[in-house]
Amino acid sequence: MATRTKIKLEPLVIDGHKVGRVLITGASAGIGAELARAFAREGHQLTLVARRRAKLEGLAAELAREHYVDVRTIVQDLAKPTGPAAVVKAAQADGHIGILVNNAGVIDVGPFSASRTDALVNMANLNVRALTELTASSFPAWSSAASAASSTSPRSLRSSPFPEWRPMPPRRRTCSP
Ligand SMILES: NC(=O)c1ccc[n+]([C@@H]2O[C@H](COP(=O)([O-])OP(=O)(O)OC[C@H]3O[C@@H](n4cnc5c(N)ncnc54)[C@H](OP(=O)(O)O)[C@@H]3O)[C@@H](O)[C@H]2O)c1
Repeated sequence: MATRTKIKLEPLVIDGHKVGRVLITGASAGIGAELARAFAREGHQLTLVARRRAKLEGLAAELAREHYVDVRTIVQDLAKPTGPAAVVKAAQADGHIGILVNNAGVIDVGPFSASRTDALVNMANLNVRALTELTASSFPAWSSAASAASSTSPRSLRSSPFPEWRPMPPRRRTCSP
């Protein structure tokens, strides 16, 4: 009889440091879903956010089955004023968020004059406000883990789904007129 490896409930450890969960917004489809698959292949724990529950839960089941990683889902409309804060609260209850992927977004194509005001406001709320709020809310947790992160980042990036993403060597800041 085939045996099944248990779901790994501990965060990925690189160079002795826990990486934390990877939070991906807009993970129910498209690029976000593919990023979730890529991170899961590397053994990361995931928190997936979008509005369509069935899509999120289907992907979570697929990733747990294929890669034995712990996947949580948060069903939330990030364009709603209360959406980003609700996501941060729910996500942090599951553990430290080590990597934030602000992927959810919409594009309104066509002449500005033909756009509906509510669609434009919705787009600004999702593409700008939610991204800003999620990033700012995550900073306190990141800064407390900053020394660990800075010592692990080169190796973390080597093991990320994007090996071409390399940390830049320290450079002197310059200003040009
Ligand atoms: N594909 C491209 O060529 C391209 C080019 C440039 C930039 N981008 C950007 O890359 C990102 C991903 O693109 P994509 O092509 O993969 O898009 P997509 O297939 O349309 O997927 C968008 C994702 O965002 C989620 N989403 C949309 N509105 C949301 C809301 N109000 N609250 C929470 N989640 C929401 C959707 O899930 P639910 O519907 O379940 O909520 C879905 O998971 C977007 O930000 C897009 O603007 C894409």
